[in-house]
Parts: sequence; C-alpha cells; structure tokens
Amino acid sequence: MKRDSMKEAAKEIQNQFSAEIQQVKTSSDLEAIKIKFLGKKGLLQSLMGKLRDVAPEDKPQAGKWINELKVAIEQALLSKECELIEAAEKEQIKSEKIDVSLPARRRTPASKHPVYAKLDEIVDIFVSMGFSVFTSPEIETDYYNFEALNFPADHPARDMQDTFYIEPNVLLRTHTSPAQIRVLQTMKPPIRIVCPGRCYRNETVSSRSHVFFHQVEGFYVAESVSFQDFFATISEFLKKLFQKEVKVRVRPSYFPFVEPGVEVDCTCFLCEGKGCSVCKRSGWLEVMGAGMIHPHVLANCGHDPEVYSGFAFGMGIERLTMVQEGVSDIRTFFENDMRFLRQFPS
Ligand code: PHE
Repeated sequence: MKRDSMKEAAKEIQNQFSAEIQQVKTSSDLEAIKIKFLGKKGLLQSLMGKLRDVAPEDKPQAGKWINELKVAIEQALLSKECELIEAAEKEQIKSEKIDVSLPARRRTPASKHPVYAKLDEIVDIFVSMGFSVFTSPEIETDYYNFEALNFPADHPARDMQDTFYIEPNVLLRTHTSPAQIRVLQTMKPPIRIVCPGRCYRNETVSSRSHVFFHQVEGFYVAESVSFQDFFATISEFLKKLFQKEVKVRVRPSYFPFVEPGVEVDCTCFLCEGKGCSVCKRSGWLEVMGAGMIHPHVLANCGHDPEVYSGFAFGMGIERLTMVQEGVSDIRTFFENDMRFLRQFPS
C-alpha cells in the first residue's frame, strides 16, 4: 500500500466521523459511534491492519497519521459526551422548575378538643386556688353513684338522673359526685379536690342534651366550712374564668347529698347583666349545682358532721363552652367534623 493512499484512507475516516458525530443526539448514539470507529472491529482497527501492506520506510509516518486520527476521534467523542451531559442537566433543571405561585399545602396542627380545653382551663383555675385533682371511675356501682350520696333505692330523686346499667348494680356514672365519696372515704380533712370527667345519662339526644357530657366536681371539707366560704370561692373562680367582675347569686334547689342545695347563677359575661341572646335576655347564666355537703354523707364516710362541714359543686362543661364559644348545638362537639373542630385552635 502506498503511503499516500494510507493518508487518504485516514482522511476518509476522518470525514466520515465528522459527519456522523454531528448526528449524535443521545448517549446510545454516542456509544454506537464509539464502537464503530474505535471498537475492536472498528474502522480504525482495520486501518491499523492495513499498516502491514505499507512499505517499511513509510510505516512510521503512516502510524503517526493513524495515531493522530485516533486522538482526534477520542477528543471529539469526549467533548460530545460533555455536551450531552450538559444538555441533559439543563433539561432536568427545566422540568424541576419551582412554581412559586402554587398554593401551599395546608398544615393542620393538632389542637385540644374545645370541651377538654375548657375542662383544663377550669381545673387550672382551681389548682391555682389550692385544690388538688382526683379522677374517679366512669363505671360506678350503684352505691357510689346513688346510695352513698343519699339517694336511697326507690327514692324519687333517682328519676333526676336516669342512667345506663351494665349489671343491676353497675352503671355508667351520671355525675362526678361519686368522687366525693371515694375521696371522703380515704382522706382526712382538710380536703380540697376537683374531679373532672365524663358522665352519662339516658336522655333523648337534642341540641341541648346528650347521652354523655362532662362535669367538673369540686368540694372542700374541713372544720367549720361555711356557705360564706363557698360563695367567696366560687365568686373568685367565676371572676377568673370570665376574666371580669361578675355578680353571683344562688337559688334554692334540691340534690339529696347537699343541704341546703342551690343553683348558682352569675351575670352574663357578654352583656354584663343587661340581657342578650347568650343569656336569653335574663342577664344571668346558670353555671352549676352546689350546696353544703349533707351530714349523712359525711357520716357515711366516717367524718363527724358535728366537727366537719364542707361545700360541693358540680358544673357542666358543654353548656358553659357553648355560651362562651357561641356553639348552638351540643351534638356538634361529638361529631368529629373537622370544619367545626378547626375553629378551636389551641
Ligand atoms: N351532681 C349534681 C348534678 O350532676 C351537681 C352537684 C354537685 C350538685 C355537687 C350539688 C353538689 O346535677
């Protein structure tokens, strides 16, 4: 083979490569062209084979041409590869573009249920006034829920609190007052306790009443506790709860385990006694049942009623939350509707 024809052959391969490299669009195109030109059975390798036919004195020059061609091809392949990587990166960035106008994903942090938030608020106020917290079972015996609280069997007062029985003597508590008995049986006065919790009554469900609800019970037993003490304690509590001065009044009422028994009202926190829709134009809000603990109850629990006396009160949490938060239907508290619950962020 002549030296010049070797040069021509190299030139031809060079031209072919230059044309083909321009067509390369993907990395697999690139791989194919690499194999075609530089592979073991590639064009350069076959050119190399032709060196055998070149005259010995021309071999160094011909070898040099082939080598130069190889280096040029390698370089071109490398720069094409960089080009492809760059293009791919640009493409990726384009597809990852952040749309800053997209609405943010809503985050809903957990919050306390409005009834439990109110329950905690009330308990915290009493704790700040020196009361301790006691929890009493929701499943009670007839003895604790009624008997020991001076509701004898067949007493008409039992009609006030119809309940759900689990067994003839085991029931769901109708109020938190059984806590009075459990505490008085085991502790020595002076005793200052609040007991928050859930209660149950067999009532028709309506916008005003439910088969379960929550109460906070409170009582203070010591030597010579008077009704005056009760009035002062509850006035202070209501002032703290409504964060303003409120007037307090009591009306006679009946609960078998207190004597005298009262209903406590305070002036409406919204209209301050003038009359509005929250207090149904009366100017007053009914906030709790209360009274001086009946001597029978104290004696039943082993405390001498001649020495010790005490007051007790029990308040419903749902009604209070309803007037304070403007909720008109008690059922909405327990439907777990997120649209309702989200209105009470803690
Ligand atoms: N337990 C009574 C009720 O649920 C409320 C109450 C508690 C009344 C303490 C007097 C004293 O209706």
